[in-house]
Amino acid sequence: MVRPGYVFAENLSTLDVDLLALGVVKDRVIDRRVSGLDVEGVISRAAKAEGFQGDAGKQLLVYPHPQVKPRRVMLVGMGEKPGLEQVRVAAATAAQKAREAGAKRLALSMPWDSLTGAEVSRSVEESVSSALMALYSFGKYKSEQREAPNRLDVVLPPGLLPEKEAAEAVRKGEIIARAVNYARDLANTPASDMNPERFEEEARRLAEKLGLKLRVFKRRELEELGMGGILGVGRGSSVEPRLLVIEYWGAGPGSKPVALVGKGVTFDAGGLQIKTHEGMSEMKYDKSGAAAVMGIVKAAAELGLKVNLVALIPLVENLPSGSSYKPGDVLRMYNGTTVEISHTDAEGRLIMADALAYAAKEYDPQAIVDLATLTGAIVVALGPYATGLFSNDEKLAKTLEKAAEVTGEKVWRMPLWPEYHEMLKSEVADVKNTGGRWGGAITAAAFLSRFIGDKPWVHLDIAGTAWTSQRSGQRKPYNPQGATGVGVRLVLEYLRELSTSS
Ligand code: BES
Ligand code: MN
Ligand code: ZN
Repeated sequence: MVRPGYVFAENLSTLDVDLLALGVVKDRVIDRRVSGLDVEGVISRAAKAEGFQGDAGKQLLVYPHPQVKPRRVMLVGMGEKPGLEQVRVAAATAAQKAREAGAKRLALSMPWDSLTGAEVSRSVEESVSSALMALYSFGKYKSEQREAPNRLDVVLPPGLLPEKEAAEAVRKGEIIARAVNYARDLANTPASDMNPERFEEEARRLAEKLGLKLRVFKRRELEELGMGGILGVGRGSSVEPRLLVIEYWGAGPGSKPVALVGKGVTFDAGGLQIKTHEGMSEMKYDKSGAAAVMGIVKAAAELGLKVNLVALIPLVENLPSGSSYKPGDVLRMYNGTTVEISHTDAEGRLIMADALAYAAKEYDPQAIVDLATLTGAIVVALGPYATGLFSNDEKLAKTLEKAAEVTGEKVWRMPLWPEYHEMLKSEVADVKNTGGRWGGAITAAAFLSRFIGDKPWVHLDIAGTAWTSQRSGQRKPYNPQGATGVGVRLVLEYLRELSTSS
């Protein structure tokens, strides 16, 4: 495991590392940091010969003069006006190259005073978190572990930051990256090893470690509560469905909690209306919303955020069997709404409905944020680059849009006009669970909106962004193949803002 840290150094040529990466602003390749390393002009000649000018996406690896201590120097282009995303990309690129080169000790230097709209300490934090995210690999099932750097230091000029702030920034960056990687582990784990029962065990471990209260509703409690959505979808599996409720009281009493709801379909075969083989192949990732919520709670507690959180995670396997729920069935949800099942593959909204309604009624939350790999239709609409954001509250929507700009997890606001409810009308029940072919992501969100009461609410449809796969080109250097942990940094950013403004 990589240990992150920081060092203050005036002269980079004294750093005893295997790879020193320098983020470089366009047309400012030979700055003060480089000139100390440029003994006998080795670096400036290489840059000239290769035409390296610091453009974003370009890198140059140089073996400097033997008088210089770093074994390798990598210049990482960051373009003209680098902000936080360029910091993340540069740090991640450096970390990946260091791993490829077999470097054990990696040092990272950024053009600290040329970063636009980014405080130094936040840039330190992002360098650390992005590098740790880039070095993630899902190694649990590999006989041989991938070699990776074991030491990652952010290099700062003396006096740029108080020592305490630097240490704090590194610590925060590490907590956040580990939370993202934790969410990735949960989502990447094969469905048979992370079914509702195993997910509950994992939540127990987490709650115990963090000293948080965890409640688990299984079949009997779900029946008593009248959670027909979770029970209905869960019926086809031999593993009992569950609803997990984790509470974190970081702000003390008197402050209303934020409710976080994450879709935990540990495998989505589609139920009796079974998916095709391509459609099903990646459905272990249908627990990505639940995984993200676990990551958010973990980091919020470790950071000691002054917010109250209640995390609700409905867990089911959506499988076809003799006991599965059927098209045409009518389910009664926690808030009393009856739902005609028009498609058994639209299961996410059914389990989310119970959890959302429970959160709205039992916790009087100041806001509800849900994360769900809810619809293929959002992937059609936005592709793999953006999460669909739906909200009934302008202020909350804007807040999350702002948080997304900070973390680089793109969101795009989708409409929730009342017309869409027309498409969900049922002949036999209050509502159907699907609205037909068109506007599928919106009708799904409209369905959810029936269960949140009058609470400010944001729904994040992460179906396109929760994992990377061959078919999509959205890989960022800090998102390795597989689960991305999308939403963890986004929601944490929102919660950190709440925490400081209280
Ligand atoms: N988990 C899927 C949504 C999904 C599809 C996520 C592809 C990621 C990639 C969800 O449960 C689902 O099956 N939705 C259906 C809804 C339809 C039956 C109305 C879909 O999107 O096809
Ligand atoms: Mn489905
Ligand atoms: Zn699903």
